Amino acid sequence: MPITILHKEKLIPGRTSKLILDAPHIARTAKPGHFVMLRVDDHGERFPLTIADTDPENGTITIVYLVMGKSTTMLEELGEGDAILDVCGPLGKATHIEKLPAPKKVVCVGGGTGVAAMHHIAKGHHKAGNYVIACIGARSKDLLLFHDELSQFCNEVLVSTNDGSFGMQGIVTDPLKDRLEKDKNIVEVVAVGPVPMMRAVAELTADFGVKTTVSLNSLMVDGMGMCGACRVSVGGETRFTCVDGPEFDGHQVDFAELSKRLSAFRTQEADSLERHKAGRNCQCGAH
Ligand code: NAD
Ligand code: FES
Repeated sequence: MPITILHKEKLIPGRTSKLILDAPHIARTAKPGHFVMLRVDDHGERFPLTIADTDPENGTITIVYLVMGKSTTMLEELGEGDAILDVCGPLGKATHIEKLPAPKKVVCVGGGTGVAAMHHIAKGHHKAGNYVIACIGARSKDLLLFHDELSQFCNEVLVSTNDGSFGMQGIVTDPLKDRLEKDKNIVEVVAVGPVPMMRAVAELTADFGVKTTVSLNSLMVDGMGMCGACRVSVGGETRFTCVDGPEFDGHQVDFAELSKRLSAFRTQEADSLERHKAGRNCQCGAH
């Protein structure tokens, strides 16, 4: 069913945008951690985006995307009032959120575009009554997302930028390591962002023995557990990100295999984007 874009905001012009979609059914049922599969039009492929926020009363969901391939470029070409052909969801398993006994705390780590998806999870922990520390990182201040939104409900927001233009200079694992060393009440870490970041977070927390959940951004085709495109090895077993995840125990994920699978179709993805930009949408790829 076509879904209307009610609001569009270019968070980082030319790179990252936020859409508020008129999707009452999804807004009513989606929980933190869930994602949707989108198909922009008849020429588009299906692709997943994690839900960044929901407003069940107004019947809307928020998605945030990095413009990086053909599908997100097609999405970026739409504006307020336009319709997306299909938005299927909520999909995947919701984040496991339980009330932590005081003074236990959870740290929600987000890197780059992953901060938007992490926002919904942090909100869920806040609603459950947990002490939430957001730990967010970007290459520079102008690439930092959702700082104001997270500051509204998180107990603390730790910021790092690679160039030091805002917060601590460094990568997101720097303030995280600092806190883990000082605060023994941190019992859980959730991380969403680039694969090297989630891997670094998991390696760090393993040293401290802190439970860690990562939200994987595997390639997906059907999003229903039937095609196998999103398979990932977790604890030596094959799991499907779309139906068994997208969240898994970060200490059990085979990140090297995940990185390899994510880069497997880079040439075809670049070619598809080029053909889209040139106005050639033939599905067989020959024209
Ligand atoms: P980026 O490369 O600019 O990195 C953002 C921040 O992540 C950095 O500033 C740093 O603080 C941290 N980081 C990156 N690599 C790190 C490492 N090796 N160790 C510790 N910290 C590290 O981020 P971007 O360009 O916005 O990221 C884009 C990637 O994130 C895309 O590949 C996209 O698919 C992925 N992504 C994943 C999810 C998800 O659900 N896991 C959601 C959105 C985006
Ligand atoms: Fe097909 Fe997960 S996307 S099995």
